[in-house]
Amino acid sequence: MIGRLNHVAIVVPDLAAAAHMYRTSLGAKVTEQLPLPDHGVTTVFVELPNTKIELLHPLGAGSPIQNFLDNNPSGGMHHVCYEVVDIHSAIAQLVKDGARVLGDGQPKTGAHGLPVVFLHPKDFCGTLVELEEIKAA
Ligand code: CO
Repeated sequence: MIGRLNHVAIVVPDLAAAAHMYRTSLGAKVTEQLPLPDHGVTTVFVELPNTKIELLHPLGAGSPIQNFLDNNPSGGMHHVCYEVVDIHSAIAQLVKDGARVLGDGQPKTGAHGLPVVFLHPKDFCGTLVELEEIKAA
């Protein structure tokens, strides 16, 4: 069902400092900050040859990652995102197998403008999993 690792997301307390660290200390290609008010986050992408690292910082009141940052003040790994070709069939299969899809169980438009869902961490080894539907190659 799952294909490539699309990204690993890390919540950070200081986005500029995190971007600088990836750009200079680690020598990676890093994008500019992109505010996504609909998602309550500002993102920076670290573009690696084989995947991406998504640096996340809360944006606005009621950000979905504010609690995570409160509980992990130095930041931490937030989720992994796997690519799927058909998100509706993936959801149907996972629900049949007893996995819990967060929210109303329907895909939403994610940070890259593609349909995404999040799966309950307790069903996936304590890791929040995002599925993103990519266009078939
Ligand atoms: Co993500």
